[in-house]
Amino acid sequence: MHRLAIVSTAILLVVQVVPAPAADSPWAGRTVLVTGANRGLGLELARQLTAAGATVIGTAREPAEARELAALGARVEPLDVTDPAGVAELARRLDGVKLDALLNNAGYFGHRGPVAELDPEVARQEYEINALGPLRVTQALLPNLRLGTTRLVMNMSSGLGSLANAGRGGSAGYRASKAALNMLTVVLAAELKDEGFVCVAMSPGWVRTDMGGTGASLAPAESVAGILAVLGGLGPEDTGRFLNHDGAELPW
Ligand SMILES: NC(=O)c1ccc[n+]([C@@H]2O[C@H](COP(=O)([O-])OP(=O)(O)OC[C@H]3O[C@@H](n4cnc5c(N)ncnc54)[C@H](OP(=O)(O)O)[C@@H]3O)[C@@H](O)[C@H]2O)c1
Repeated sequence: MHRLAIVSTAILLVVQVVPAPAADSPWAGRTVLVTGANRGLGLELARQLTAAGATVIGTAREPAEARELAALGARVEPLDVTDPAGVAELARRLDGVKLDALLNNAGYFGHRGPVAELDPEVARQEYEINALGPLRVTQALLPNLRLGTTRLVMNMSSGLGSLANAGRGGSAGYRASKAALNMLTVVLAAELKDEGFVCVAMSPGWVRTDMGGTGASLAPAESVAGILAVLGGLGPEDTGRFLNHDGAELPW
């Protein structure tokens, strides 16, 4: 093949593989912190936000191993959401940094069986990570969010956190932790409404990650594209809502 043809084919390939940042995206120029951004939905959030022109601060428990996150150009920060000193240290390192959105994504699913077999210590861990984690991180980063323009807090909940959907039983510890997260979201929304904050709980759907498993119905890219489209279109009137990745209202 002629050299020029090879070069232009290579350029074409690069153009197709690396999407250009969308200047008209609501995320362009925004600074967004994503917890648990080293794999699964968090990594996909970081990927799509970066592609949309956002500056991403992604947290990971093992930052040295968060190679895919770092390769996106994200700022990688160490964080275990169960560690109050670590959360305070993150806030200290981010002192004065404006954040437009906080995506509390890190989560843990410890037990899927019936209540009779639920180890309370596993339930405690689920609550620590899924409910108290977002509480700690949100409290610590409120000053940063107050410096931002969109003042958005998204708590990654789950359809399993819906009281209305608990009919078939199972996964009580995880469900309870996400129901607690939902309540936190509603109370936070009420308290921060006058400051223009938009605080929502979202379900990503059933997604093919380590947590969701290979049999799940959605690819991470599809779920996250939906989540970001929904979040990008929210206004102050939407604060306190529980939304699916496709924008549908979910029952509490
Ligand atoms: N996948 C689904 O079908 C589904 C459905 C409904 C809701 N969700 C929710 O969506 C969120 C992301 O889920 P996923 O499917 O991406 O799960 P995942 O693949 O298991 O990833 C979980 C992420 O959370 C991080 N994490 C766990 N414990 C942490 C802690 N103590 N401190 C900081 N980070 C911690 C993990 O970090 P390490 O790598 O260090 O473990 C990892 O980055 C979760 O909140 C989950 O509950 C998922």
